[in-house]
Amino acid sequence: MAQLWKGRFKKELAKETNDFNSSIKFDSRMFEEDIKGSIAHATMLGATGIIEKSESEKIVQGLSEILEDIKSGSLEIDMEAEDIHTFIEGELTARLGQTGKRLHTARSRNDQVALDIRMVLKKEIDEISKKLKELIGVLCNKAEENKDTIMPGYTHLQRAQPITFAHHLLAYCAMLCRDLDRLKDVKRRMNVLPLGSGALAGTTYPIDRNMVAEVLGFDDICLNSLDGVSDRDFCIELASALSLIMVHLSRFSEEIIMWCSWEFKFVELDDAFSTGSSIMPQKKNPDIAELVRGKSGRVFGDLTALLTVMKGIALAYNKDMQEDKEAIFDAVDTVKMCLNAFTPMIDTMTVLKDNMHNAAAKGFINATDCADYLVGKGLPFRDAYKATGELVAVCIDKGLTLETLPIEEYKAVCDVFDSDVYTAINLEKCVNDRIAVGGPAKASIDAQIESARKIIES
Ligand code: ARG
Repeated sequence: MAQLWKGRFKKELAKETNDFNSSIKFDSRMFEEDIKGSIAHATMLGATGIIEKSESEKIVQGLSEILEDIKSGSLEIDMEAEDIHTFIEGELTARLGQTGKRLHTARSRNDQVALDIRMVLKKEIDEISKKLKELIGVLCNKAEENKDTIMPGYTHLQRAQPITFAHHLLAYCAMLCRDLDRLKDVKRRMNVLPLGSGALAGTTYPIDRNMVAEVLGFDDICLNSLDGVSDRDFCIELASALSLIMVHLSRFSEEIIMWCSWEFKFVELDDAFSTGSSIMPQKKNPDIAELVRGKSGRVFGDLTALLTVMKGIALAYNKDMQEDKEAIFDAVDTVKMCLNAFTPMIDTMTVLKDNMHNAAAKGFINATDCADYLVGKGLPFRDAYKATGELVAVCIDKGLTLETLPIEEYKAVCDVFDSDVYTAINLEKCVNDRIAVGGPAKASIDAQIESARKIIES
């Protein structure tokens, strides 16, 4: 396919140059946005009298037909073309002759590509947000079913204090709700029209940028043409929001992987969302969770690539910026793929409540509550802490738990203890006494679920 910029060149482009220079393999996915952007531009050119109304109408008609033809498969995108913009404009000219050549009036591929990526990414943000909402919804349902499922809460991966599985899941819910909010924020800043910036210095034609912005659903127009064509902050912001989503999914995956091990056995994944080993017949592996954890590295790599591409280029457009698309599209596609697999995996997993409870019963995770019991009887917290520590040592010595340690042993350490201590260290009570806002008690769980559900319904 011919280049758009042939006029000043005497020789044909070397094949190696075209292969290296061409971006069609990764920007052809923007065909719909490219055409819609061009339709809006052509309409504006007609409305402002920059080109004849009749010609503008023909261009709009021609572009609409090209869109239909690509969608129906009757027009194949030429992978030898320099990029999607060149291909569409070339096809339009092939169909309309002279009239097609008027489309690029008052426009450059530099502001055109900046427009197309924004349009594509706005759509992708909506899709990823929808998928995040689905995951949040699944977590809310699972939390609802596990309000009474006692499990150990950990610090340093050591059993620490009793919580419920609902509370643990809702921690991820809180992270994902922030992710959702971040995406909304990225989209808001992205939703500014660059078209009209021209190659770098705007244009001498009396264009109506606000009209184009309105037609294409942009909130505003960029106010500096150099910035309009050279800004890729929105790609970097999106890649960093996506990286945080992957951090959260990766931490969650790590826990799923641990919980699936025989050492924990807190959950069992559905057969449809696990894999086997080619040699060890007993194995059931959490491959999805491991892959999600692994793929986080890809997305962080995409973010690093974008930051590195952008950090040293003088204003305005430089060809380096063509590298933006592979990185950001890879990040977008990876996150979507991860969510597609992760959400049903969580939805279908079985929670092994008894195993969680047994783990909670063995780790002295009610020791803080035991100390609080003594504080309730008037002891300073530090003395209560020391006495409870001694009790734990006695338990370890005798192979007992705080629940099974006889009252005489309690009294031998501190005579303030009475038989009501057993009620005070009951795990269910320990959890449900943590009534402060943000804690694992039922009222707080209900409030967390309600707040998350409100967010996903909005
Ligand atoms: N394919 C190019 C890109 O993605 C389009 C812009 C080309 N602009 C130029 N001045 N060569 O960046």
